[in-house]
Amino acid sequence: MEALATRCALFLAQIALFSNTAFVSEAYGFRSQKKLSENIDWSYAGTLNQNNWAKKYPSCNNAKQSPINIEESLAQVKMQFQKLRFEGWTEKTSDSTTIKNDGKTVAIDVGGDFFVSGGGLRSKFKVGRITFHWGLCNASSDGSEHGLNGDKFPLEMQIYCYEPDVFSGLDEALRAGGKITALAVLFDINTEDNENYMAIIDAVNSVSRYGKSGPVSPFTLQGLLPNSTEKYFVYNGSLTTPPCSETVEWIVFKNTGDHLRCSAGDVL
Ligand SMILES: *[C@@H]1O[C@H](CO)[C@@H](O)[C@H](O)[C@H]1NC(C)=O
Ligand SMILES: *[C@@H]1O[C@H](CO)[C@@H](O)[C@H](O)[C@H]1NC(C)=O
Ligand SMILES: *[C@@H]1O[C@H](CO)[C@@H](O)[C@H](O)[C@H]1NC(C)=O
Repeated sequence: MEALATRCALFLAQIALFSNTAFVSEAYGFRSQKKLSENIDWSYAGTLNQNNWAKKYPSCNNAKQSPINIEESLAQVKMQFQKLRFEGWTEKTSDSTTIKNDGKTVAIDVGGDFFVSGGGLRSKFKVGRITFHWGLCNASSDGSEHGLNGDKFPLEMQIYCYEPDVFSGLDEALRAGGKITALAVLFDINTEDNENYMAIIDAVNSVSRYGKSGPVSPFTLQGLLPNSTEKYFVYNGSLTTPPCSETVEWIVFKNTGDHLRCSAGDVL
């Protein structure tokens, strides 16, 4: 238990550290390396910050932008009880699964066939990529992008899915402005841990520097979801980063993930 709690703390400490490192590296790249700076046309801080995204990406100023603070009274948001169908999610991811530190987030490109459908979704979607958004692992931390009734959470996991009948991969779907379904899981802080995250923790540790990428040991996607996926919120929104395309149907789980938990005391 002690060891597990420590590993959990390590995960959040690592990703927090990673976020700082990423920013420093990114700023460095922007100033001094032409090649790198060509790839950087938006950021979370500095002159290319969120207030300026719309200069290059006009969609970022549109009406249906994500993330939002979810309130049950919000007309845009619907509470859903229809069962989602998860196909393949109890199988392990394939060896082709990779992780990358792109300077803004840590993204896992998922190898293997994992589908989500039902629950009023427009069609059957295939899992393409998982990203994480985090803050500091203590009581005040608001690392999540989405809020629930005004509250933010230390960590948000986002699973991006595309229509495999239309596109050969997530990037192609993004480029073409195809329909995207994104599942968001908001994580709480508590003392408990889950082995399902160990492969991801190890992978995150292996890419703590900007630009690094590497393989991810097999893990089950089912293990990353909350125990209950029967109640959730849906709304039509956007990508949370440029180009901010308003092509995303968001599924946000109300029962916050009870898998990745660690106590504030362990981390502080
Ligand atoms: C959370 O951690 C940050 C950074 O260590 C610190 O500045 C802040 O006071 C902490 N908040 C709480 C409520 O402990
Ligand atoms: C989630 O499931 C695990 C394993 O079945 C169980 O130990 C845990 O108590 C459950 N948590 C909640 C909040 O139901
Ligand atoms: C999102 O948009 C689609 C297509 O317009 C619509 O069928 C669906 O009901 C919308 N979802 C929500 C939650 O409003």
